Amino acid sequence: MELVEAIENRRSIHDFRQEEVPEGLLNEIFTSASWAPTHRMKEPWQIYMFQEEGKQVYADLVLQSYTRKGFFEGYSKEKSQRMKQGIHEFLVNIPHHALIFMEKDANEHKYEEDYAAVCAFIQNVQLLAWEKGVGGLWTTSPYLHDDEFIKGVGLNPSLHKLIGVIQMGYPKKVPKAKPRTSMEDKYTLFNYNFKNSVY
Ligand SMILES: Cc1cc2nc3c(=O)[nH]c(=O)nc-3n(C[C@H](O)[C@H](O)[C@H](O)COP(=O)(O)O)c2cc1C
Repeated sequence: MELVEAIENRRSIHDFRQEEVPEGLLNEIFTSASWAPTHRMKEPWQIYMFQEEGKQVYADLVLQSYTRKGFFEGYSKEKSQRMKQGIHEFLVNIPHHALIFMEKDANEHKYEEDYAAVCAFIQNVQLLAWEKGVGGLWTTSPYLHDDEFIKGVGLNPSLHKLIGVIQMGYPKKVPKAKPRTSMEDKYTLFNYNFKNSVY
């Protein structure tokens, strides 16, 4: 697949087939993704992959977090129970949840560099997966900022920053592309002496 084709045709996948992606293929995808740019060669990305039975605990932790954040408040006990069951089922039906995190650098500049490198890594994962017919959804849900959730997955909120979860699996449905804004609206050329024209 041409690079441009992967970049333009990759879509965020919300519907996955009930089929695991082979471990070897996931390993190949994550290994190639690690060629992402990384200042000072920090390679800050770390991955916890929740799959098979591991998804049960993961889904429980997500639901506990939603409960703490008041997501189910205002609903009857029965209704909130049904909502919880629905979310649990939805989460365990997604074949793989790749939680991507990094160690927090105390220096703000280095923290930003590390964060940026991990984002480049995540997009590499999405593109490499797409090339192999594997779909992904990059998510940043509120539980990533919930200290109890962070502790629940065995990490330390003072030391670790959760950056995203890539939900992964073979696509059941590929959504239509959402059009992008013309580069004419985004791209400004400075090929002249601009000293007196910017403020
Ligand atoms: C940092 C980041 C966080 C995202 N978080 C979510 C999310 O929580 N839920 C979701 O449905 N999509 C999420 N997305 C996916 C975007 O909604 C998606 O990329 C956008 O709608 C464009 O669709 P496309 O990726 O198919 O081109 C996220 C994307 C990025 C880059």
